[in-house]
Amino acid sequence: MFSWLKKDDAEENTEKSDYVTIEPDFRDSDAREILDCIKEEYGLDYRRQEAVTLRKIERFAQKHGFDSFKALANAIKNSKSLETSLINSLTVGETYFYREIDQIKILAQKIYTNGYSRVLSAPCSSGEEVYSILLYLQTNHSIPPSLHITGIDINTEALSRAQKGCYSQRSVSQLPADIIDNHFIQKDREYCIKTALKRYTSFVYRNIFDPQFHLLGKFDAVLSRNMMIYFTDDEKRRAVSQLQSVLKPGGLLFLGHADISFVPEGFEKLHSKSTIYYRLKERK
Ligand SMILES: C[S@@+](CC[C@H](N)C(=O)[O-])C[C@H]1O[C@@H](n2cnc3c(N)ncnc32)[C@H](O)[C@@H]1O
Repeated sequence: MFSWLKKDDAEENTEKSDYVTIEPDFRDSDAREILDCIKEEYGLDYRRQEAVTLRKIERFAQKHGFDSFKALANAIKNSKSLETSLINSLTVGETYFYREIDQIKILAQKIYTNGYSRVLSAPCSSGEEVYSILLYLQTNHSIPPSLHITGIDINTEALSRAQKGCYSQRSVSQLPADIIDNHFIQKDREYCIKTALKRYTSFVYRNIFDPQFHLLGKFDAVLSRNMMIYFTDDEKRRAVSQLQSVLKPGGLLFLGHADISFVPEGFEKLHSKSTIYYRLKERK
């Protein structure tokens, strides 16, 4: 890949042609600024995957016409949409229906018997987790009319897919066949969730570290599964504190089994079958 400068704009020009080529100059040391900003703002620490991540950022930069990490970093400072596109290309939204189903079962039971009406999926990626709760409830109990599940994420492409509700065969592969038959419409090679379930959902862009995160209001239960893998321990604690700020006293927090290795302060650890979840202690 090359970017082109008009002859007059080039500092040195020994070519006879009207244009000179500028060789791309992606020095890993110049990417530090970008990696630091991503960690600071989104908690994502790519040090363990640095080589792979830098090549992804390089490909992104070249696709958008930049010839160095420095040029990309400068452009991002003035363009939120460029930053969002970069985050879209880096964040891994790998998810599927009925992932870690034991937690979904516990939550569905609580929704049904304790009248939980506000649930947060943070992060929701492309929405499979949100719809899994509704599908499980619909199949095994019923969906309380007052229930609303909010999904948040920083990947705008994943959020669009969640709103659309259309999925690949791989994504629905854990679902029983009768659930697919009853709740999805097959379009081409995709499985699209019927609109009846969508009315219980909303999907919004939100960074978990946003200082305004608490303005989402208070929830009976929060799922935050399989996001913290790229966070350092400090960021994990910061993330849990953000989640705590949107939980009602006595509310439940469901984390992925590999997300944290400490019991979050202010929470009680609960076990059921093979799964763990946390209850926010009520203040005395
Ligand atoms: C593997 S998906 C998890 C989806 C679902 N919770 C699950 O367990 O299958 C991880 C998601 O975390 C999102 N994410 C990463 N950092 C985030 C942040 N700071 N705030 C909100 N979402 C974030 C990514 O965009 C990605 O969609």
